[in-house]
Amino acid sequence: MSDAYSHFDFSGKSVLVSGAASGIGREVARAFHLSGAKVLATDIDGDGLENLVSELGSPCQSVMADVTDEAQVASAVQTIVEKFGRLDICLNCAGAGGSKPLLEMEESFWDWNVALNLKGFFFCIKHQGRQFRQQGDGGVIVNITSVTATINAAGLTPYAAAKAGANKLTEMAADELRHLGIRVVAIAPGLIKTPATEKINNTPEIMNEFKVSIPSGRIGETSEIAHTALFLASDGAAYINGTIVHVDGGLDIYGVQPDLSKVREYYR
Ligand SMILES: NC(=O)c1ccc[n+]([C@@H]2O[C@H](COP(=O)([O-])OP(=O)(O)OC[C@H]3O[C@@H](n4cnc5c(N)ncnc54)[C@H](O)[C@@H]3O)[C@@H](O)[C@H]2O)c1
Repeated sequence: MSDAYSHFDFSGKSVLVSGAASGIGREVARAFHLSGAKVLATDIDGDGLENLVSELGSPCQSVMADVTDEAQVASAVQTIVEKFGRLDICLNCAGAGGSKPLLEMEESFWDWNVALNLKGFFFCIKHQGRQFRQQGDGGVIVNITSVTATINAAGLTPYAAAKAGANKLTEMAADELRHLGIRVVAIAPGLIKTPATEKINNTPEIMNEFKVSIPSGRIGETSEIAHTALFLASDGAAYINGTIVHVDGGLDIYGVQPDLSKVREYYR
């Protein structure tokens, strides 16, 4: 086991990670694998999945699944049961943000943001929850939302609105599924160093603005999200349910980030 994550032991646990080909999802998949879990990694990026599986080795397997397609989400749940016998923990990490001014925004751009960052969580919770219900002994679902749900994230309107919906969905699902012993929680990351934020991170004038609004004064690392995910999925967090955990260097309390509508090209 890696020293970095060795204080967690998920030996024998069967863990499903969406958005696992890159960034946060990839590190989360790695962290659970290094902590002894059997990991099924899903994504729409086949090359990224292949690369992850060859880096981690057994027992990490992958399957292509688009979280905006209900049949593919259901099929991924069936796949993990076929491969590893059951489902214990789900990390719903797939997501992406886009920046456009509202008055110039096409319906298709709005729909893409909301399908990926809100409806996808509904499909995941529905099919993961059904599998937990069938197994009869509970489970844990961790959704990766965003600090943009609760701060002024100018330029990211549909993404922020969808992530705010995902926070509320997390709370509602925690209440509705509690009788099944299922915990549903969310992690709301702030600015984290991943391929999605590479252009922001490599642009000093934007990063200088970000540093003012992030009380910790820096961008976060994917390992900082992975550590939180490991804890929230562990028995040590058994009394944490329906909670949105901010891992954002304090950005949420500051309440505002640079206006990304002016720097559309820095956010995909
Ligand atoms: N990086 C940040 O600063 C940051 C901040 C807040 C929230 N987040 C959230 O964290 C999550 C991971 O972001 P990241 O920065 O690691 O980005 P990333 O681009 O590095 O990884 C996102 C992954 O999601 C996959 N994906 C995209 N659409 C998909 C779909 N329809 N179905 C399945 N997989 C799909 C991509 O192929 C990619 O592998 C996202 O939900 C994002 O909104 C990131």
